[in-house]
Amino acid sequence: MCGIIGVTGDGNALGVIFEGLRRLEYRGYDSAGVALVDGASLWRRRAADGTHSVDDLIGSADEVPEASRTGIGHTRWATHGGPTTENAHPHVDCSGQLALVHNGIIENHAELRGPLEERGHVFASQTDTEVLVHLLEEELAGGVGLAEGLRRALAGVRGAFSVVVLSADQPDVIVAARRSVPLLAAVGDGTGFVASDISALLGRADRFFAIEDDQVAAVGPGTLEVTTLAGEPVEPTSVVVDPGWDVEAAQKAGYDDFMTKEIHEQPRAVADTLLDRWGPGKDLVIDELRVPPEDLRAVDKVVVVACGSSYHAGMVAKYAIERWARLPTEVEIASELRYRDPVLHERTLVVGVSQSGETLDTLEALREARRSGAPTVIVSNVVHATMAREADGVLYTRAGPEVSVASTKCHVAQIVALDLLALVLAQWRGTMGPAAVAAEFDGLRRLPSLVDEALGRAKDVDAVAEALAGARDYFFLGRNIGYPVALEGALKLKEISYLRAEGYPAGELKHGPLALVEPGVVVVAVLDPLQDKMRSNIAEASARGATVVVVAADGEDVTGLSDHVLRVPRVDDPILAPVVTVVPLQLLAYALARRLGNDVDRPRNLAKTVTVE
Ligand code: AGP
Repeated sequence: MCGIIGVTGDGNALGVIFEGLRRLEYRGYDSAGVALVDGASLWRRRAADGTHSVDDLIGSADEVPEASRTGIGHTRWATHGGPTTENAHPHVDCSGQLALVHNGIIENHAELRGPLEERGHVFASQTDTEVLVHLLEEELAGGVGLAEGLRRALAGVRGAFSVVVLSADQPDVIVAARRSVPLLAAVGDGTGFVASDISALLGRADRFFAIEDDQVAAVGPGTLEVTTLAGEPVEPTSVVVDPGWDVEAAQKAGYDDFMTKEIHEQPRAVADTLLDRWGPGKDLVIDELRVPPEDLRAVDKVVVVACGSSYHAGMVAKYAIERWARLPTEVEIASELRYRDPVLHERTLVVGVSQSGETLDTLEALREARRSGAPTVIVSNVVHATMAREADGVLYTRAGPEVSVASTKCHVAQIVALDLLALVLAQWRGTMGPAAVAAEFDGLRRLPSLVDEALGRAKDVDAVAEALAGARDYFFLGRNIGYPVALEGALKLKEISYLRAEGYPAGELKHGPLALVEPGVVVVAVLDPLQDKMRSNIAEASARGATVVVVAADGEDVTGLSDHVLRVPRVDDPILAPVVTVVPLQLLAYALARRLGNDVDRPRNLAKTVTVE
């Protein structure tokens, strides 16, 4: 959730931190802050201004200590304590000599805080984080160095953290530690860095390292020393930067916002995810999958775990895996799986789906699966992500950096990657012959141009958005493969327009929610080509006065069915259709949110990467 960055040995430390915070802002933007070593003391600035805290912080940076080469920065997604300046990081100890930034949640903060207060520590915030800086203050009073102090301070801490600390008394080092929450270190020529995400450090260094759970990293100018929490030295895990992830890829490139840019990058994201998958033996090959074919042949059940839009992609995959590979497939909300004693074993393939590869709910569900002995595969968009490192196998979506909080290009790339996985399973299990696999793969290869065509119809979507202006209540309906698309359409609308939107299986409407349908309610129905029954469900809503918008393939007869039609190019195999039918729903959410004047890239209360449970 929160974004953290630390730098040492750089004459432009503040500039590096500000630029890093801009690149990390997608992780949370309730407040932002920075601390620099300023001679023998610390210089600190913080700002809390809704979605523009980083701008505000930069604007407030007066009397900057010019000689400073070491500092830390933070952009916050509030969990404990409101989004105020007092709760903004960095937090400092009682002496003001120590500063600390944190991402995660300290679960036993309340039980740690009482005794600290009794021992005379004065707290300045309502955060769970602040206990850490006071614990560290006590350890340093014993005369140990910053790294040893942090190791000791963390010994009694429960929860998830990546934390970076800075001391005016030890000016050439920043020390960081991690448990369950992403953290990278990087080393340049006389410089050292840590950050939540590689995007903050691109162009700054040439060697990058993943800090693993329960490790502590001491970063100096050009140096990195990593130990366990017990103080044992360890070799840091080197990470290779995905060549598609350069500074330019993370810019708006002339678009008004990242969301439009990413919506328009969807044909590329789909095409790239399919690149190099057709092997010389005229079969599907997924190089990074790593799980041997014989293990996949032994699988008798698939469980897909994910959250949000990734979960919806997983729901689409259920249809493909069951149809093609004939394997029973369950799709689980990651935060639910872990706490209900699931039946998983060596023959259950557990597939995590995550754009970031860091979502804590999904990470913990995958860990639970590994503890049960189940083989795990992660569909990830980030090459060096924790899940990609921990899972037995990986399947990368090659969508490039997705910055907007609302997932678009990664969602369609995930569907395509999961389709590939379903086909590989079918190929290896022999449930589809080579010709059938080749035919479906050809269908996948046609998707980029169909998505492009759907994007070319954005003006039609704008006209419908204009007609719907003023409506506050939406139902998104679908059946079969159209159902996850409806859920995704509703999620997109909710998160960026703040309008009430419910995704529902169309056949279920009459079992209760139809009571809510009345004039003024909008029903957006995804007309799956296979589902004639949808027409009756749409008529039931129409008869109660709903304004109906239908998403229909070219050539589909929709005469008299709805008030508005959003046409999409026809996809030959309906199982592949979600990649195309979701496009007008993304565009509709976008158009409605823009009409309401919302910041589509940074919706209120949300963050891009959710690293708390
Ligand atoms: C999608 O628009 C959301 N912002 C959100 O639901 C997201 O898909 C979810 O948090 C999962 O993230 P992940 O793919 O990085 O794991």
